[in-house]
Amino acid sequence: MLLSSSLKALAGALLLGASVVSAQETSEKASVAGLFPGWPKPGKKCLFPRKRKEWRKLSNREKEEWLDGFMCLSKLPHTDALTPVVRPPDIAPVNASSSFYDDIVYMHMDLNLKIHFTGQFLPWHRWYQQFVEDQMRKKCGFKGTMPYWDWTKDAHDIYNSPIWESHPRHGLGTWGDPNKVFRVTDGALRNMKLSYPSPIVGFRRNFTIQPYLNVLPATNPNHTIFANETYQAKDVHRLVNGYVGDFVGFQYDFEFVPGSHSALHRTLGGDMGGYCPSTAYPGCVGGPTFSPNDVTFFLHHGMVDKIWADWQKKNKKNKNAFFGGSVQDRAKFPNGAPPNLGLRSPMPAAGMVPEEALIEDVMDIKGGYLCYEYV
Ligand SMILES: *[C@@H]1O[C@H](CO)[C@@H](O)[C@H](O)[C@H]1NC(C)=O
Ligand SMILES: *[C@@H]1O[C@H](CO)[C@@H](O)[C@H](O)[C@H]1NC(C)=O
Ligand SMILES: *[C@@H]1O[C@H](CO)[C@@H](O)[C@H](O)[C@H]1NC(C)=O
Ligand SMILES: *[C@@H]1O[C@H](CO)[C@@H](O)[C@H](O)[C@H]1NC(C)=O
Repeated sequence: MLLSSSLKALAGALLLGASVVSAQETSEKASVAGLFPGWPKPGKKCLFPRKRKEWRKLSNREKEEWLDGFMCLSKLPHTDALTPVVRPPDIAPVNASSSFYDDIVYMHMDLNLKIHFTGQFLPWHRWYQQFVEDQMRKKCGFKGTMPYWDWTKDAHDIYNSPIWESHPRHGLGTWGDPNKVFRVTDGALRNMKLSYPSPIVGFRRNFTIQPYLNVLPATNPNHTIFANETYQAKDVHRLVNGYVGDFVGFQYDFEFVPGSHSALHRTLGGDMGGYCPSTAYPGCVGGPTFSPNDVTFFLHHGMVDKIWADWQKKNKKNKNAFFGGSVQDRAKFPNGAPPNLGLRSPMPAAGMVPEEALIEDVMDIKGGYLCYEYV
């Protein structure tokens, strides 16, 4: 009797102890994480989430500050911290005379095979956006947060979307000039220097509404479809409301060709579409590599991230749902072949942060290292 009650007390003390230890561990992890240049200092709680707004809801001043952030990163020098890990043979080698923004683009080039069509796709791109925002805040005095582009509002007529503004300070730029390899020669980033796949001034954007003519075989019924058929309001509705607890189904619907993620990339053509310019080195291979050259990338991925966050919020079975492989195998596995990833798997960063964040660190946009919401 006595023994059993003291055992109970001991067990109670241990339990109490255990919870103290885990609180300590949490704050230790938090304070160590505060040293990572790639991360904001995590607060104890996310009390004041930054509000990520739709591009059109930004004031001209806010648009300008965000675009200035990219211009600023593109004027900072390359860092030797960049350490390619995958080194696919078909991308350009690291250019040591390039810019810090080129390094950011290079991460996406180098890691292509790890972060697309694998379980990393959604968490990694969520992390990448936060990483870029943090760099803009730390190195360029940016005070805002990432906006997003609700392309369902423009899906009926992407070419004439009001987001393509030519304004030299707050404009995203219009469409590229066909006589200048589709370089965008207006907007705030018209003079942005880029180095990949080859040096160029100004990113490229080329309206391509039937992108599958050269991508899907003629026997595929989707060979001739218009890209905008898959990023309509109905598609977002299906994504957010469907796939309860089914992370794989959700990701597959999003990422498969011609699903909405790639369809939007390809509609914008040029850099977003992953097409090599005719001025690139011989043998340049396109694909989802240098697409962040056009910063619309972050507006698009803001929307992708918002849809994931909305899905996570929709049902408690979705909140922490995660499953995926680490190896791209598009013929057999919808989101990657084994070895499988888990919530404790790190997200590769090509040397750009001293310690890699884990997938679980970005599962909650208002917890862990993240503190924002979509409004
Ligand atoms: C897709 O875009 C084309 C060209 O902008 C337009 O004519 C068509 O109506 C759009 N389709 C849908 C379903 O919105
Ligand atoms: C490296 O980048 C710089 C800046 O964009 C450019 O001037 C130079 O030509 C590039 N070198 C190579 C080998 O592409
Ligand atoms: C531009 O887009 C058109 C389709 O709208 C395509 O035929 C052409 O090859 C593209 N050009 C470049 C240089 O990407
Ligand atoms: C064609 O695209 C639709 C989505 O628009 C998809 O449901 C269907 O599976 C695709 N067909 C093939 C053969 O890929």
